[in-house]
Amino acid sequence: MNILLLNRSPKAHSTTLDMTKAFLNGLCQTEPAHIQYISSYDKNVKYCQGDLSCWFRQDGRCIIQDDDMNDILAAMKESDVIVWSFPLHCHGLPASLKAIWDRTIAFLKINMTQGKTYVEHERTFDLTAKKHVVIVGGGYPYYPDNFAAVKTLMQIYLKHPAMACICETALLDASAPEIEPLKEALFARLHEAGIEYGKTGQLSAETVRQLESPLVPNETYIAMINSLAPETKAQ
Ligand SMILES: Cc1cc2nc3c(=O)[nH]c(=O)nc-3n(C[C@H](O)[C@H](O)[C@H](O)COP(=O)(O)O)c2cc1C
Repeated sequence: MNILLLNRSPKAHSTTLDMTKAFLNGLCQTEPAHIQYISSYDKNVKYCQGDLSCWFRQDGRCIIQDDDMNDILAAMKESDVIVWSFPLHCHGLPASLKAIWDRTIAFLKINMTQGKTYVEHERTFDLTAKKHVVIVGGGYPYYPDNFAAVKTLMQIYLKHPAMACICETALLDASAPEIEPLKEALFARLHEAGIEYGKTGQLSAETVRQLESPLVPNETYIAMINSLAPETKAQ
């Protein structure tokens, strides 16, 4: 199995990546896998210029040829499973991931057809034919609709991805004795989820519910986060 792991955190040490690695460790237990890892750090992706000339060339080639997007497009084509791993930024996609998505427009042709649900463009390559896993990190548990926009986007763009939005990722950056057991519990859940995905090719509704459930009550989470504030630490 060829897995493409696209981690799109702008940080040198991405906590979302830590979570995704726990998931992939589980997945790789079930079947031999080759993982190609591409991070925002290693690759330069320029913004789409919006001229849509790719739709008329109809060969899947973007007009921008002097950055790393061709490598990413080639890796997408070669993979069996694409893992989209990213932090939630302002309830949406981090800019570096949006830049990649916009550039995949080069797979489309100007020609349109009426699909089952949407009006669709003909494509030189159908990204939705791949299997997709989406792992999103965020820092706001107990926040209704925190991930709603991203979930809708992913469903529309990737069609039926296996997806988990983890709401207490901000804790993973911290190393306090009371936080360690929470990290362990979260990584264990992700590891199990990876095994489940490897065996079934999907994540059950119950697994997603567990992954997305906060590990601690709201007041405890707030107290833990506040204990990291500089003025608290100085006391
Ligand atoms: C610009 C920015 C915006 C953010 N917006 C949100 C948000 O809307 N909701 C949320 O739950 N977390 C938000 N966060 C917190 C991050 O999603 C969280 O800390 C993340 O999981 C960090 O992952 P990383 O280490 O992989 O970058 C934001 C962080 C940044 C830097």
